[in-house]
Amino acid sequence: MTIVENELETPLRPSEAPARPAPDDATRFVGRPIPRLDGALKVRGQARFAAEVPFERLAYGALVHSSIARGRIAEIDTAAAEAAPGVLLVMTYRNAPRLKPPLLMMADPKGASASNLPVMQDDRIHWNGEPVAAVLAETQEQADHAATLVRVRYEAEAAATGFEEAKAKAHPPENILGEPSSIAVGDAEAALSQAPFKVDQVFRTPRHNHCAIELHAVTVAWEGGHLLVHDATQMVHLARGTLAAVFDIPEDHVRVLSPFVGGGFGNKAVWNHHVIAAAAARLLDRPVRMVLTREGVFRATGGRTVTEQRVALGARADGTLAALIHTGFTAVTAHNSCPEQFTIPARHLYAAETMHIAQQVTELDMVANTFMRAPGESVGTFALESAIDELAVAMALDPIELRRRIEPARDPTSGKRFSARHLLQAYERGAQRFGWNPDRPAPGSRRDGEWLIGQGVATATYPYFRMPGGAASIRLGIDGRAVVKMGAHEMGMGTATAQTQHAAQLLALPMDRVRFDYGDSDLPTGTIAGGSSQSASIIATVRAAFEALVSQLLVLADDTTLAGLRPEDVEARDGGLGVCGDPSRHVSYVTILRRAGRDALECRADSPAPAEMEKFSMHSYGAQFCEVRVSAVTGETRVSRWVGSFDTGRILNPKTAASQFRGGIVMGLGLALSEETLFDERSGRIMNPSLADYHVPVHLDVPPIEVIWNDIPDPHSPLGLHGIGEIGITGVGAAVANAVYNATGKRVRELPVTLDKLL
Ligand code: MOS
Repeated sequence: MTIVENELETPLRPSEAPARPAPDDATRFVGRPIPRLDGALKVRGQARFAAEVPFERLAYGALVHSSIARGRIAEIDTAAAEAAPGVLLVMTYRNAPRLKPPLLMMADPKGASASNLPVMQDDRIHWNGEPVAAVLAETQEQADHAATLVRVRYEAEAAATGFEEAKAKAHPPENILGEPSSIAVGDAEAALSQAPFKVDQVFRTPRHNHCAIELHAVTVAWEGGHLLVHDATQMVHLARGTLAAVFDIPEDHVRVLSPFVGGGFGNKAVWNHHVIAAAAARLLDRPVRMVLTREGVFRATGGRTVTEQRVALGARADGTLAALIHTGFTAVTAHNSCPEQFTIPARHLYAAETMHIAQQVTELDMVANTFMRAPGESVGTFALESAIDELAVAMALDPIELRRRIEPARDPTSGKRFSARHLLQAYERGAQRFGWNPDRPAPGSRRDGEWLIGQGVATATYPYFRMPGGAASIRLGIDGRAVVKMGAHEMGMGTATAQTQHAAQLLALPMDRVRFDYGDSDLPTGTIAGGSSQSASIIATVRAAFEALVSQLLVLADDTTLAGLRPEDVEARDGGLGVCGDPSRHVSYVTILRRAGRDALECRADSPAPAEMEKFSMHSYGAQFCEVRVSAVTGETRVSRWVGSFDTGRILNPKTAASQFRGGIVMGLGLALSEETLFDERSGRIMNPSLADYHVPVHLDVPPIEVIWNDIPDPHSPLGLHGIGEIGITGVGAAVANAVYNATGKRVRELPVTLDKLL
């Protein structure tokens, strides 16, 4: 894979100098491509992941998964498994401790589970793949072997496993991530029927599964009535709250540690294996390790659900939209709260005189679907941005020019002002970098031997979120070091590095004097690593803690230099506080602490309410450009070139940010070309639960990916940031499908774009 390292060619534009230097301008770590602080640990194998934590007398677990989708366990024979070498316990609903159901994510303030079904509490079966037994043994191999000896006889009942049939029972979900499930502006159907140019198509996207390199894993231990959980999670505090509820113990009797996560894209949350491992550990009175197999990840943890989407666009001759319709269905379970919000982009992206946006869900008997990188937006932009391209073709307009004509002045459905929206600039910069040809050659006209060549473009977009409910503290020590503490998460995206940069800059300390402590539920409450919200959420909270710290330092400062000054009179400078506008008046933190007779000072603050989200329409944006080569002989599609041009506010660390964008684009190539969870509608069984049969992109599938960004800070977000974790995958499916159309003249409206659809 060739990676074009261009991040240094797009340096941060210097932020406008405020009248009084803001703390972030005191030093210059933010915006620098600092290598990951945890990188060396990882390449040396010293970063300890959840499945690697050593314990004395550790027992290893393996799961047995149901092979029916609905019904009950009529008989379960565990005798052979129990007699197998090394086996310590076979746990089923018959001997599992009585437990409360897990708390539901998004529905309960402490919810970390995509399902609130009870775990191993009765003989009922709810999905094909549900854990029905857990074998605990002295070694992993013994547990795996004994699990094959468990015999289960089921009484199957009629299950809802067919999407087409279930659609008849579809209904609107309560809401779509806080937005109404249906929005109507004017009479869109009437406007569509009268429009001189129209596109009205149905798009389909399949299920997708999470394929993080790190398998889901927990190592758990009870110490008295206290539960210690070494986890791979995006939410240490919600995991703590959910497990405390399940075991009916106080929250402070549970500690969840997760210093490193080997990839998390929305489903490193709480699933059955957490509950089963902790329950088995209690029965055994031994620590337990439960690592899902790759098949187990597919069977026992959910991913992105199936969608069927209608997009209809009606345009006037001048290219403005008279009607924008985006409706459709997804399959969910009766016990979750993830509707796969594919209509979010259409609500906020383009100006249209009339709109009809509506989503419906229908319940199937399957593993609970859940969040997966840009849930909704990744597949919603496939449909919407494919339809925009179809309209551009119908109107013989450059698709970028069409987007210029439908660029809205305000948010089309909320009517709010955009806090920062420079999408067209991202298009212009991307088009220039890519070498976009606005007069696209006709399909089939560019050819290199058997390869038909095409170019495609699509909008990327993802909402801005900042989460309330967190807290952070900053501890300054007499040794001149600072520790910033928040139960946040590092899943490989660079959180620890970027947050150390920010904190060092805020405190005006060298980076090696600052440590960011995270990944531990004993720390002040972290918000989730989800919704691309973590960076802004942490930064706003750490800045609040910094303000508290400055106030306290001024109280402590028994010194003529700072006496009587208010927080707004001082700034962090050279490892201490300095008087604004007077370089000669400065006292180091260490001096303040020493004179006050203190070893340390620690100040804590809660996350400020995300008021900016109420006031403004806030989103990350981007323009995805690609070139594809499609074999006229086999129909095989190869993506040969990629430029992602993003508009995501200020970039904290160009190196880790570029990696986030690229990672998202690579995952988008999987969505576009190969990824598809095959769900047997007769049995509700996933047919390809392995990386051999579920095809994620490999090196040969990934072209040179160039990423650039506008780097225009949002004046209304903390430090000018927008989220960048998820936007990379959005727009990729459409950009590829649009390029495939340009190459071949074939419009594929059903993902993935496999060769059979092109022959
Ligand atoms: Mo993301 S799907 O919110 O981890």
